[in-house]
Amino acid sequence: MGTAGESLAFLDIPEGSLWVANSEVTAALERHFLPAYLAKARWFPGNSETRIKPKIIARLPFTADSTTFVVIQTNHHARYLLPLRVDWSVDAGPELDRSIVARLHQGEREGLLCDVAADPAFIRLILEHLRREASIAGSGWRLDFKPTSKLGSQPPNTPSRIRAIQGEQSNSTAVVDQDYVVKLYRQIEPGQNPEVEMGYFLTEAANFAHTPALLGHLEAAHGSARYALGIVHAFVPNRGDAWTWSADRLSIYLDSIVKGSEERDKAITARRDYLQWVRRLGRRVAEMHRSLASRDDVAAFKPEPIDEGDLDFWIGDVMERAARIFNRWEESSLDVNDRPLMERLLWVKPRMCDYAANLIRPSLGRCKIRHHGDLHLGQVLVANEDAVIIDFEGEPSRPLADRRRKAPAARDVAGVLRSLDYAAMASRQHRQKSETLNAPTSRALLAWRQQSTDGFLSAYQEAIGASVLWPERAEDTKLMLNFFLLEKALYEVEYELSYRPAWISVPLQGVLRVLEEGGVA
Ligand SMILES: Nc1ncnc2c1ncn2[C@@H]1O[C@H](COP(=O)(O)OP(=O)(O)O)[C@@H](O)[C@H]1O
Ligand SMILES: [Mg+2]
Repeated sequence: MGTAGESLAFLDIPEGSLWVANSEVTAALERHFLPAYLAKARWFPGNSETRIKPKIIARLPFTADSTTFVVIQTNHHARYLLPLRVDWSVDAGPELDRSIVARLHQGEREGLLCDVAADPAFIRLILEHLRREASIAGSGWRLDFKPTSKLGSQPPNTPSRIRAIQGEQSNSTAVVDQDYVVKLYRQIEPGQNPEVEMGYFLTEAANFAHTPALLGHLEAAHGSARYALGIVHAFVPNRGDAWTWSADRLSIYLDSIVKGSEERDKAITARRDYLQWVRRLGRRVAEMHRSLASRDDVAAFKPEPIDEGDLDFWIGDVMERAARIFNRWEESSLDVNDRPLMERLLWVKPRMCDYAANLIRPSLGRCKIRHHGDLHLGQVLVANEDAVIIDFEGEPSRPLADRRRKAPAARDVAGVLRSLDYAAMASRQHRQKSETLNAPTSRALLAWRQQSTDGFLSAYQEAIGASVLWPERAEDTKLMLNFFLLEKALYEVEYELSYRPAWISVPLQGVLRVLEEGGVA
């Protein structure tokens, strides 16, 4: 002991040395401990320890004692944030908790190096710093805590219960009592973060009430580059996200149908409640679009006419995605039943570009706006029979500049329509597996999908009214929606190829439905 290095389980820190300042310690972290930790982190896109080669590129001191924001860069040039803290007061027992990055030795003592993204003391400190509008400088970086005008109206900062949201995918989120939601970004990029930008706009400039109030954010500055590291919203009491809620309603409805006449009333109530809620969602999405388009004086949000360059970008984007899918689908483990669907899509390949262009060109002249960009039922909270829209980060796989691009409001509308399809088809797959799908439930399921789609769309159109945000003629609406349904469904096909091949038939059928309508599939 005494020199930095790694035995199988321990990271040795030389006496009198700070872990973060010792190059041998950081080299050992990069070599062994971080790859092992990242490989099992749900937010990190890779699970092969030997292929992950992180480099620590920045260490931003956060507290005088031992919490440091560490920025790592991977072999793919992506940057990730890890708030790490050394704790000497706990025993490094054999139970390796999910947040432990390394077990430490220093002289006689043992400790832990932990990822504290969801640690109550750390979250408490973030809120305290936000209230004080703190700014912390060190190693060429600066951490700035930037509250909004709404923070003052929140209860004083004496949090008691802090819990991590389970199932984190790309970020780490903690809920503080019934007051705050603190989200730490994992992948960080220099530039304007869309969730921060949209949050300020909706909260401070447009007063849109159906999204949680933005209370502030945390930013790192390095030279002229700015990185959003985290964001704090007001907590909204809710009964879960709309994806889970939709699945539950549909399940109650279908179970009641199976039971027949004795549960008829239950089925009718479940469907009526859900359709009412879906209409409410349609109205809220339209109101969100009106708010986002309400300020001609703010350049980043000013609605603008669509030009040829936009059309080329959108069509090019769809075609590039289709090409990526065509190039790699054969290597993926598709079920034999799904291969014919993919083969049908391949058959359409030569006509696809013209078809996509013919969908979107006639709607030229309508305007493009800032929009949600990744709207689906999982980004909506069900709160008091109402719909509250969250998570304005855009599609995480796209670069920041693309996520901030303006597009027709139809892009978000198509996102919800795809999600309603997913909800129904997820239920179908589930019932197929558990062998509870019969002819009446199958019919009921498709009718549910149709009614929820129609209900959402008609409520949206009523609330958007006669507006430059929406095509005037029903034929143009159909074409524009079909274009963005195609865009979204192809995005989903690519996603499922990477992460959940067993689901691929859902978006593939979505793509084929649009192509069938145009007579090309
Ligand atoms: N303001 C809020 N009030 C209550 N719960 C919230 C709020 N914001 C987020 N959540 C909870 O956190 C979950 C993830 O939030 P989200 O912003 O979608 O994070 P991510 O970027 O990881 O998808 C939501 O599904 C919800 O359960
Ligand atoms: Mg989300």
